[in-house]
Amino acid sequence: MTTELQPTKKATRNYYSYSDTPWSIWNVLYGRRSHRKYDLFKPGRDLVDSLDKTRELACRTRGASLENIAVISDQDRVNELRLALFRSFQGGINSWLSVTKPWAIITVELDAGEMTADRPQLLPRVIMAMEDLVLWLAEQDMGTCWIGGFNDKAITGLLKAGEGRRVPLVIPVGKPVVSPGFNFDTFTAQSMSKRRKPLQKIASVESYSEPYSVPEISRKGFSASSRQGVPELLESIGGNNEKTCGADIDLIVDACLESARVAPSASNSQPWHFVVVRERGNLDKLAGCCGLDRNWKAAFVASGRTGKLISRLLEKPFWMIDVPISMSHISLMAASMECPVDVITDGIDEKAINSLVGLPGDERTVGVIGIK
Ligand SMILES: Cc1cc2nc3c(=O)[nH]c(=O)nc-3n(C[C@H](O)[C@H](O)[C@H](O)COP(=O)(O)O)c2cc1C
Repeated sequence: MTTELQPTKKATRNYYSYSDTPWSIWNVLYGRRSHRKYDLFKPGRDLVDSLDKTRELACRTRGASLENIAVISDQDRVNELRLALFRSFQGGINSWLSVTKPWAIITVELDAGEMTADRPQLLPRVIMAMEDLVLWLAEQDMGTCWIGGFNDKAITGLLKAGEGRRVPLVIPVGKPVVSPGFNFDTFTAQSMSKRRKPLQKIASVESYSEPYSVPEISRKGFSASSRQGVPELLESIGGNNEKTCGADIDLIVDACLESARVAPSASNSQPWHFVVVRERGNLDKLAGCCGLDRNWKAAFVASGRTGKLISRLLEKPFWMIDVPISMSHISLMAASMECPVDVITDGIDEKAINSLVGLPGDERTVGVIGIK
């Protein structure tokens, strides 16, 4: 493998320099990392209320239900859950929970059938809403860590989830012991805890077999939206934003791919692939496979590999978890450039999309993001 195709901690380019105005969503995307050590901290009423409001907004935007995402902040319950998560560990990966105290734990709760379905419907929507919360919490200088490495029977029982329900994922929230400064200069030194695959390895153009090549893009003529906060971006994804984005389409595509590249994934496995569709005929076919009549200027087919060992061991469909996390990033990034988007994960003709973009046999389409 040539050096440029190896995983790296470096940003693909200095995206900040492409906008005349502050493009500050990058601070959050690059600055977020998994925090596993928290200071003692008592949140103010404002933070707790805002977390609840953002939870409602994220659920509404992504089409999840409030019943799917709960914030547990009662300290006795947080402690009980933290210790149960640590005890139900698989391979000791969550022993850090025995020594640190989050001030809240956010839980995902779903019908058990969602976890075993050939194509879960609600799971990807709930996951996108959870990642929106993770990014909003990073914006508030709060640390989080997705946790999926546990046996959920004990946890589901402890949380008294109803018959036929499961709690497959949780996210502790705490004041991180070290809070890195969020800016481009400190990014390589502090922000990303692990390396990421380069864009050429995770993206293709029109067909899975045609690797994306990072283009030269002019730095002139683009102003990022003045609304860069996660809640504002969510409002614009969910609203009837009929504006059109003035940015060069190469920049839109490249920035969206970069935002996905730096997303968190279980064991940092980055099991995602994105086929960029720009050719008119393919775009029209793709919109048709999503049951839509749209004139997208570009679209991303986001896919993941099924049948991974970790999915079988933990009985969790990680392809429908990791890839939607990256789709939250792509849609927020598009909104930060004032690009209206369609985010579609269900009601699609999956076989037709897989074949349109030439996915290999073990790769499945998780969803499509269309840039209007
Ligand atoms: C679905 C999912 C499950 C995860 N499960 C665990 C876990 O059980 N324990 C843990 O310490 N980290 C867990 N992580 C955190 C990843 O290890 C982390 O996101 C990855 O190494 C990238 O590092 P970063 O988040 O700091 O960028 C999980 C992440 C995701 C997205």
